[in-house]
Amino acid sequence: LRKVPLFSELNESELKAVASLASSIDIRKKSIVVQEHDPGDSLFVILSGEVKISTYSTEGREVVLALLGKGSFFGEMSLLDEEPRSANVTTMEDSKFANIRRRDLVPLMMDQPAIALKLLAEVASRLRKTSRVLERISSMDVPHRLYSYLVDHCQRFSQQDADGRYSTVLPTHQLLADQLSTSRETISRAISQLKKDGILIQGEGRGKMRVDVDTLEGLLDEF
Ligand code: CMP
Repeated sequence: LRKVPLFSELNESELKAVASLASSIDIRKKSIVVQEHDPGDSLFVILSGEVKISTYSTEGREVVLALLGKGSFFGEMSLLDEEPRSANVTTMEDSKFANIRRRDLVPLMMDQPAIALKLLAEVASRLRKTSRVLERISSMDVPHRLYSYLVDHCQRFSQQDADGRYSTVLPTHQLLADQLSTSRETISRAISQLKKDGILIQGEGRGKMRVDVDTLEGLLDEF
């Protein structure tokens, strides 16, 4: 728990107190942790692994709202507003969580407002991100959604090489499609085109891509 940003303001004895309130849960890859519409009143902190937050469109297409990793948390929405779970949470890898119930976390937040503020800041940041994605989906065609996603992804998760390209590992075409509200086939076509245009080059190592982010930014500026 010491490495979890939400609890970074706590001293050793406060961390021990949180640890004594939390239960540890191990969940295998590709399992449902939280089901949309279920009641729920606890927060999950990700100690290891990765989860996918998703919901389903009326046509039955999976819509991926976020991917969250180690140190992050989920389940705060039902905990705070006492409404049913707003989305499905599925493990992408074998994962370990600390689970804290509302009746234990609320007194802790009252006592340590820094925790409540951090939680709020993270919720604000997620709302910003979701709004940006919504705006992209409503105003851009699929290729431009993909350009915008790639620019974000590279700038957040990878570093620029000497030649100006970014080396990165992209999610699967299906996962990209589910995040950009389109089909896998459409994503595969857009990716093939980017490869033909030399904007994406196969990198060394499995799934590695070298991305020309400057050109993508230029294409987005023109849009
Ligand atoms: P809760 O509604 O309790 O259960 C599902 C969880 O998914 C939710 O709390 C949040 O933690 C998370 N979640 C829901 N919507 C989003 C979103 N748009 N972006 C990131 N996380 C989300």
